[in-house]
Amino acid sequence: MNRASILKVSLSCALLLAANGAVAQDDLVERGRTVYADWCAICHAPGESATRILEERYQGAVPAVVDERTNLTEELIVARVRTWVAPQMPPFRQSEVSDADLEAVIAYLQRNDE
Ligand code: HEC
Repeated sequence: MNRASILKVSLSCALLLAANGAVAQDDLVERGRTVYADWCAICHAPGESATRILEERYQGAVPAVVDERTNLTEELIVARVRTWVAPQMPPFRQSEVSDADLEAVIAYLQRNDE
């Protein structure tokens, strides 16, 4: 193989890997969307209890619906889902939201981050 074909082959490999990574990320986001719908939307959908509390708190500075936010850190999401941060949001057990579900919901909530 000459240099040009080696370059072409490595380039195709890199593109293929990147495409695979993107697909895996999309799958994770889609799984997270389902986890969110099953466990979070009951309080966090538009007009629901948590949304009303967050509306009051942020006064339009950030979206009150958490899945429209673009500034949620992994640390904040994990703390919220696993510990009692606020009395109105109970933590979730592994049997409800597993670590893999949590990872997926983080990917979903961060899907539109810069
Ligand atoms: C029983 C209702 C309820 C459920 C279910 C619920 N939450 Fe919450 N959540 C709340 C309330 C209420 C707040 C705001 C309370 C506060 O901070 O005083 C909140 C706050 C948050 C915040 C912090 C927002 C901020 O700006 O501080 C995040 C992130 C969050 N929830 C994520 C989730 C995720 C992810 C799920 C699903 C796994 C979930 N919540 C399920 C009620 C709920």
